[in-house]
Amino acid sequence: RRILVLNGPNLDVLGRRDPAQYGTVTLAELEAIVHTEAAVHELEADFRQTNREGELVEWLHEALDHFVGVVINPAAYAHTSVALHDAVEALDVPVVEVHLSNTWKREPFRHVDHVATAATAVIVGAGADGYRLAVAHVASLVSTDAQ
Ligand code: DQA
Repeated sequence: RRILVLNGPNLDVLGRRDPAQYGTVTLAELEAIVHTEAAVHELEADFRQTNREGELVEWLHEALDHFVGVVINPAAYAHTSVALHDAVEALDVPVVEVHLSNTWKREPFRHVDHVATAATAVIVGAGADGYRLAVAHVASLVSTDAQ
Protein backbone atom coordinates (compact mmCIF):
# COMPACT_ATOMS: atom_id res chain seq x y z
CA ARG A 1 0.00 0.00 0.00
CA ARG A 2 1.21 3.45 -0.90
CA ILE A 3 0.89 6.88 0.64
CA LEU A 4 1.51 10.18 -1.12
CA VAL A 5 3.67 12.78 0.64
CA LEU A 6 3.51 16.24 -0.94
CA ASN A 7 5.59 19.34 -0.27
CA GLY A 8 4.76 22.79 -1.58
CA PRO A 9 6.67 25.92 -2.52
CA ASN A 10 10.09 26.84 -1.12
CA LEU A 11 10.48 23.55 0.72
CA ASP A 12 13.10 22.59 -1.87
CA VAL A 13 15.42 25.17 -0.25
CA LEU A 14 14.86 23.92 3.28
CA GLY A 15 18.11 23.91 5.24
CA ARG A 16 19.18 27.19 3.64
CA ARG A 17 15.99 29.03 4.44
CA ASP A 18 15.21 30.90 7.69
CA PRO A 19 16.82 28.39 10.10
CA ALA A 20 15.26 30.21 13.07
CA GLN A 21 11.85 29.03 11.81
CA TYR A 22 12.68 25.76 10.09
CA GLY A 23 15.98 24.57 11.60
CA THR A 24 18.61 23.05 9.39
CA VAL A 25 16.67 20.00 8.27
CA THR A 26 16.71 19.47 4.51
CA LEU A 27 14.03 18.07 2.23
CA ALA A 28 16.22 15.01 1.65
CA GLU A 29 16.31 14.42 5.40
CA LEU A 30 12.52 14.73 5.61
CA GLU A 31 12.24 12.21 2.82
CA ALA A 32 14.44 9.77 4.74
CA ILE A 33 12.31 10.22 7.88
CA VAL A 34 9.15 9.56 5.84
CA HIS A 35 10.52 6.41 4.18
CA THR A 36 11.73 5.04 7.51
CA GLU A 37 8.39 5.62 9.26
CA ALA A 38 6.39 4.31 6.29
CA ALA A 39 8.44 1.10 6.30
CA VAL A 40 7.66 0.61 10.01
CA HIS A 41 3.98 0.46 9.01
CA GLU A 42 4.59 -1.61 5.87
CA LEU A 43 3.65 1.30 3.64
CA GLU A 44 5.46 2.70 0.63
CA ALA A 45 5.78 6.48 0.40
CA ASP A 46 5.87 8.51 -2.80
CA PHE A 47 7.63 11.74 -1.72
CA ARG A 48 7.34 14.81 -3.98
CA GLN A 49 7.94 18.59 -3.96
CA THR A 50 6.80 21.34 -6.31
CA ASN A 51 6.70 25.13 -6.34
CA ARG A 52 3.51 25.09 -8.46
CA GLU A 53 -0.01 25.18 -7.03
CA GLY A 54 -1.64 23.41 -9.98
CA GLU A 55 0.82 20.56 -9.77
CA LEU A 56 -0.18 19.98 -6.14
CA VAL A 57 -3.84 19.92 -7.24
CA GLU A 58 -3.07 17.34 -9.95
CA TRP A 59 -1.02 15.19 -7.59
CA LEU A 60 -3.85 15.24 -5.02
CA HIS A 61 -6.18 13.92 -7.72
CA GLU A 62 -3.89 10.88 -8.06
CA ALA A 63 -4.88 9.98 -4.51
CA LEU A 64 -8.45 9.36 -5.73
CA ASP A 65 -7.29 6.06 -7.23
CA HIS A 66 -3.70 5.29 -6.36
CA PHE A 67 -2.94 6.00 -2.69
CA VAL A 68 -4.40 4.97 0.67
CA GLY A 69 -3.59 8.29 2.32
CA VAL A 70 -1.89 11.64 1.91
CA VAL A 71 0.53 13.74 3.97
CA ILE A 72 0.84 17.31 2.71
CA ASN A 73 2.86 20.35 3.68
CA PRO A 74 1.23 22.88 1.35
CA ALA A 75 3.64 25.58 2.66
CA ALA A 76 2.42 29.09 1.77
CA TYR A 77 -0.41 27.76 -0.43
CA ALA A 78 -2.15 26.61 2.76
CA HIS A 79 -2.84 30.27 3.46
CA THR A 80 -4.04 31.22 -0.02
CA SER A 81 -5.37 28.29 -2.00
CA VAL A 82 -9.07 27.52 -2.25
CA ALA A 83 -8.09 25.12 -5.07
CA LEU A 84 -6.08 23.01 -2.61
CA HIS A 85 -8.95 23.09 -0.12
CA ASP A 86 -11.31 21.79 -2.80
CA ALA A 87 -8.85 19.13 -3.99
CA VAL A 88 -8.38 17.82 -0.44
CA GLU A 89 -12.12 17.89 0.18
CA ALA A 90 -12.66 15.77 -2.94
CA LEU A 91 -10.60 12.90 -1.53
CA ASP A 92 -12.02 9.99 0.41
CA VAL A 93 -8.69 8.91 1.90
CA PRO A 94 -7.16 10.45 5.05
CA VAL A 95 -5.19 13.65 4.46
CA VAL A 96 -2.85 14.85 7.23
CA GLU A 97 -1.49 18.38 6.86
CA VAL A 98 1.93 19.22 8.30
CA HIS A 99 3.69 22.51 8.97
CA LEU A 100 7.21 22.39 10.39
CA SER A 101 6.78 25.69 12.23
CA ASN A 102 3.97 26.62 14.59
CA THR A 103 2.03 28.80 12.18
CA TRP A 104 -0.22 29.99 15.04
CA LYS A 105 2.76 31.69 16.68
CA ARG A 106 3.65 33.55 13.49
CA GLU A 107 2.22 36.37 11.37
CA PRO A 108 -1.58 36.74 11.19
CA PHE A 109 -1.59 35.92 7.46
CA ARG A 110 -0.52 32.37 8.44
CA HIS A 111 -3.59 32.01 10.69
CA VAL A 112 -5.78 31.33 7.69
CA ASP A 113 -5.36 27.73 6.57
CA HIS A 114 -7.56 26.57 3.69
CA VAL A 115 -6.12 23.07 3.74
CA ALA A 116 -6.72 22.59 7.46
CA THR A 117 -10.44 23.20 6.95
CA ALA A 118 -10.57 20.17 4.63
CA ALA A 119 -7.87 17.92 6.15
CA THR A 120 -8.44 14.91 8.40
CA ALA A 121 -5.81 16.11 10.88
CA VAL A 122 -3.19 18.84 11.18
CA ILE A 123 0.24 18.72 12.85
CA VAL A 124 1.97 22.08 13.30
CA GLY A 125 5.12 23.16 15.08
CA ALA A 126 6.60 19.71 15.62
CA GLY A 127 9.40 20.32 13.12
CA ALA A 128 10.68 17.35 11.15
CA ASP A 129 9.05 15.02 13.68
CA GLY A 130 5.70 16.26 12.36
CA TYR A 131 6.29 14.30 9.15
CA ARG A 132 6.94 11.12 11.12
CA LEU A 133 3.84 11.68 13.25
CA ALA A 134 1.75 12.35 10.14
CA VAL A 135 2.86 9.12 8.46
CA ALA A 136 2.17 7.20 11.68
CA HIS A 137 -1.30 8.70 11.92
CA VAL A 138 -2.18 7.91 8.30
CA ALA A 139 -0.93 4.37 8.97
CA SER A 140 -3.15 4.00 12.02
CA LEU A 141 -6.18 5.30 10.10
CA VAL A 142 -5.68 2.88 7.21
CA SER A 143 -4.50 -0.11 9.25
CA THR A 144 -7.93 -1.69 9.39
CA ASP A 145 -8.63 -1.16 5.67
CA ALA A 146 -8.36 -4.16 3.41
CA GLN A 147 -6.74 -2.31 0.47
C1 DQA B 1 5.39 26.08 6.45
C2 DQA B 1 4.65 27.27 7.09
C3 DQA B 1 4.12 28.22 6.02
O1 DQA B 1 3.48 29.34 6.64
C4 DQA B 1 5.25 28.74 5.18
O2 DQA B 1 4.75 29.53 4.12
C5 DQA B 1 6.13 27.66 4.64
C6 DQA B 1 6.49 26.55 5.53
C7 DQA B 1 6.00 25.17 7.52
O3 DQA B 1 6.27 24.00 7.20
O4 DQA B 1 6.23 25.61 8.66
O5 DQA B 1 6.63 27.74 3.52
O6 DQA B 1 4.45 25.32 5.70
